[in-house]
Amino acid sequence: MIEVSNPKAQFLSHRKDIECAISRVLNSGWFILGKEVEEFEKEFALYNEVEHAIGVGSGKEALHIALRALDIGVGDEVITTSHTAVATASAIVMSGASPVFVDIDPRQFTLDPNAIEKSITKKTKAVIAVHIYGHPCDMNPILEITKQYGIKIIEDCAQAHGSRYNDKRVGSIGDIGCFSFYPTKNLGAIGDGGALVTSNEEIAVKVRLLREYGWKKRYISSEEGWNSRLDELQAAILRVKLKHLDTDNGHRQNHAKKYREMLELLPLDLPKSQSNASHVYHLYVIQTDKRDALRKYLTKHGVQTSIHYPIPIHQQSYYREIVGDVSLPITEKIASRILSLPIYPELGADELTNVIDAIKQFNHSL
Ligand SMILES: Cc1ncc(COP(=O)(O)O)c(C=O)c1O
Repeated sequence: MIEVSNPKAQFLSHRKDIECAISRVLNSGWFILGKEVEEFEKEFALYNEVEHAIGVGSGKEALHIALRALDIGVGDEVITTSHTAVATASAIVMSGASPVFVDIDPRQFTLDPNAIEKSITKKTKAVIAVHIYGHPCDMNPILEITKQYGIKIIEDCAQAHGSRYNDKRVGSIGDIGCFSFYPTKNLGAIGDGGALVTSNEEIAVKVRLLREYGWKKRYISSEEGWNSRLDELQAAILRVKLKHLDTDNGHRQNHAKKYREMLELLPLDLPKSQSNASHVYHLYVIQTDKRDALRKYLTKHGVQTSIHYPIPIHQQSYYREIVGDVSLPITEKIASRILSLPIYPELGADELTNVIDAIKQFNHSL
């Protein structure tokens, strides 16, 4: 079976360095918030061209902590998309704020900037811009509107490590950028992990405090805070992988190019990056009206696929109760058409050809 993503292949390609990093941590005898996290935070901040990076327990916690660091909670509204991992909405709800879902741009699947202004109320405190599948949101118009209304921007970069918008790294454009290091991500740990990035000193201090019991000084809390600490093992592993992130993203982009060259003439909608953005193809998502039949055919022919995501968040019963009846025509339309094809840096040329051939055969058989 050719898998959609393959964290094991990534481990094997850096095995020696990862095992060496693990052994270094084990022999240090220091497992939580030590030298490895400190160094990783410096390296990750430098990579993202920001002043501060703070390691936390997961991408979801990064988002939740970001909202608290911006003093967003009960009675506030946060605008975001329904076409995202449920973690984005869950962080908003857990903060006490209300999610306000807006529709997406049909080409990039990212937040439609034109939809924001209509949804702004006196309660709106922030926009969470999700750089879904690895493609940045169109940030300039989003920045313009949020500035006009005095609204904060949190970038959800969980799927877009290393991607750029107008030469700026995602995460460095809004007030805070939130990352996940879930193993299948473009920068993935061997377990859970996350980080926040910002160039705002005040926010960085608050985030550091919130990730560990609200400690201002060791054992002395100024508020309740979380226990959301990136551990030393994950930080050491991430330090190894961060060195390869740009090369790995390059492999993903080459695979995407090949998919495009070989599938362009078929009746499929293929992903494409905007001219002012770099797509890092965390996922390669095509659209077709024959999605379910194609998926079944590919499974039968040894190609795993996935759907990100099958039910938009606003249509899931738990969230429907919170947000009521919301109509998001583009989000709703694509949910039945999207299909994620295999893509990861180590995907071989033969495997890619097999996926492409299977898709072509399916089309010939119609
Ligand atoms: C867009 C998005 N936001 C947030 C998250 C949450 O990250 P984590 O799984 O590390 O909590 C994910 C991960 O699936 C994601 O894809």
